[in-house]
Parts: sequence; C-alpha cells; structure tokens
Amino acid sequence: MSSTRTRFAVVAAAALALAAPLAIRTAADAATTHTAVKADSFTAAQVLAGVQANMTTANKVNSKPHINTMTRAQNVNVYQVASGVYAYTSSMAIDTDGSDPDPDPDHQGQTTWQDSNGKALGAHHVPFYVLGDDCWDRKSPCPHFFFKEHNIKGRQFALMFYKGKCIGSIFGDTQTANDQTTSDNDSRELGEASVKAAQLLGIPSSGTTGGVDNGVTVVMFSGPSWVVNGTNANLNANTQALVQKALDDLGASMGGTPPPPPGSTFEAETGTLSAGGTFDSNHLGFTGTGFANTANAVGAFVEIPVTAATAGTKTLSFRYSDGTTAARPATISVNGTSRGTLNFPTTANWDTWATASISVPLTAGTNTIRVIGTTAGGTANIDSVTIS
Ligand code: GCU
Ligand code: CA
Repeated sequence: MSSTRTRFAVVAAAALALAAPLAIRTAADAATTHTAVKADSFTAAQVLAGVQANMTTANKVNSKPHINTMTRAQNVNVYQVASGVYAYTSSMAIDTDGSDPDPDPDHQGQTTWQDSNGKALGAHHVPFYVLGDDCWDRKSPCPHFFFKEHNIKGRQFALMFYKGKCIGSIFGDTQTANDQTTSDNDSRELGEASVKAAQLLGIPSSGTTGGVDNGVTVVMFSGPSWVVNGTNANLNANTQALVQKALDDLGASMGGTPPPPPGSTFEAETGTLSAGGTFDSNHLGFTGTGFANTANAVGAFVEIPVTAATAGTKTLSFRYSDGTTAARPATISVNGTSRGTLNFPTTANWDTWATASISVPLTAGTNTIRVIGTTAGGTANIDSVTIS
C-alpha cells in the first residue's frame, strides 16, 4: 500500500543515477566444473546466476506484463525458476507502512499481513516485499502473477538480491486492489519493498526520496514450510536465518553446480611464477587451462593462492609431471615459511601426471603456497594442488 507516485518526478534523476545493471553471470559460470563432491553450500552469486538462467520465456508465469512500480514501464515478468519458486526483477519503491519515522504520503498504519501477534508489520523493522492484492482483470487464471494462485501467503519467504547482496524477506503488504481510485497503485505492480529491506540491501530507504529503479531480484518460495513466524522484534532475525537453507535448497533444485568444498583443488595457473616461468598447455592431461612450467634453475618457483575453510594441519597434494630422468625436489613454503622439502619423482613422460603430498599448517582463508625448485632443473611441471 505503499509509496506515492508523486515522488516520481522528484526522485527520478537520483534513482536513475543509482540504478545499475546486475552483474550478468552466465549459465556457463554456474556450471564451472569443480571436483565432484556433493553440494554443501551454495553462494548467493551461484544461486542468482541459476535464477537468471531460468528466467526464460518458457518459464514465464504471467501472460500480461506487470508494471515496474518506480519507472511505470510495463516490462516486469514473473518466472517459475524451480518447483514452487517464483522470481522477478524490478524496482524497489519504499513502503513505510506499519511504522512511520519517515512516512511516505501513502503511509498507512496497517500492513496487509501481520506478525505472529497480530500486529501490523513495521516497515522499519521487518524486511518485506509487496505483491498485488487481487487479480486486476478479475480472471482465473489471472493474466498477471497473483499470489493466491501460487500457494503464497502472508509472511511467505523470499530471497532478495541486489548488487552482490542477498537478504531474506517476507511477503508483508499488498498493492491496492482495483476497486478504489485514490491512488494509482494497483495490483498489477511489482517492485516495492519495506524500508528495512532497502536498508539491508544498501538501497536508499526513505519513503519519499529512496528506492531504486531496477535491478532488484525477488525470489519467492511458496508453500507452508516457507512461511516465517515471529514478531516485529524478531521477524528479521528469523528471516535471515533461513537465507542459507533457501540458497542451498534452490541451488540444489536448479541442478546448480556446488562451490568447491573447503579443501578442494586449486589450479597452478591461478598463481604466479618466478622469472622465466610460463603457464603452458603443450603436454596432455592437465586440468584447468594449463600447468606451471618454471625456469630450469635452483630457486625457480610457482606460487599458488589457496583457501582453507578452517585453520589446521592439511595435506597438500600436488599434481605434477617430470618427464626427465631426475627427480625435481622442491621446498614447500606456506605464507612465506618453509615447511620442508617435497620430492617430485620422475614420471614416464611429460604427459603423465602423478601426485606428491606434504602436510602443512594452513590458516583459515587465503594462504599462499610456493613450490621452489632446489635443483638446477627448477620444479617439476605443476598442474594443481588439492587441500584435504
Ligand atoms: C621440457 C618440457 C617442459 C618442462 C621442461 C623442463 O621443455 O616440455 O614442460 O617444463 O622440459 O625440463 O623443465
Ligand atoms: Ca620447466
């Protein structure tokens, strides 16, 4: 019920300046191959990429376009991106209903939905999104997306994405039905959310001057198990607590590729080389896009950045090749500290890869692994390092 249209002219320039396209990630990004390990956890970027890949004509739910609440363009569509999950990208106009430190001219003390104690949801406390109150065309099925036809109720959970941020949100208020004349808000609109949702996403949250014209993606999870309970005091926390579960469920149901689990494989070609080294691809059997070929000299090295989920002693397993007749031992240093010498025995030829392992302490987060040749041959060709 929501913000006024009169502020349009006032904020149009500012909102345009703020608007920026979402970073487009392709399906190929989402499908980047990693070591085959069951999905543990999906990132917001991965899930958004999957959602965007599924926002296709074939998955469109509405037959008539919705109105972008801020720009008034009739170009907002809703897509079923997974079973029971619906997504749209639009503006964010700011709803201040239910609480009014900064009321917009359409401010109302009530929201359509209430908290678990029957109190109006406070727009300054609860991140909520706004959907149409009825079917504008009074038809069934509705030509627009109409929540009642999709197993969506008050306080229904959604993920909201904007410029690299991801929050949880609930269905809190509705656009006015088509039976009144006092406002041009109507149930065809999509693109409004509460002050709190805006604040969490880094969007200007004033009910009169805030909002953004485009780039906010709302992904609604239907069904009773995704209705969030709680009061104005704890609904935000209860909602944010569901974000990772929602990312994981949706990521898995879209068939997304999981992120590499902690302790996975890091390609040598993501690293750097001492003088004279090159990243090559002229021998068979490497993974990624190539392998490290250091200069043939004592002290020649390849340095590979890796990440570890937790601190502790881990095994580094280097995939390497040494097609000569002499082993290529190397000092292994971690974050600048030598952790011993690892032998890299010969392999049948340069197309044959073997593994050499060493235990080292790692810190949580990024660590720098250096493989430093101790003989005149430099290091073996290094393809990757796996942490376990
Ligand atoms: C050959 C081989 C390289 C290798 C080098 C070496 O040139 O093609 O991949 O790095 O020998 O001896 O280090
Ligand atoms: Ca070499």
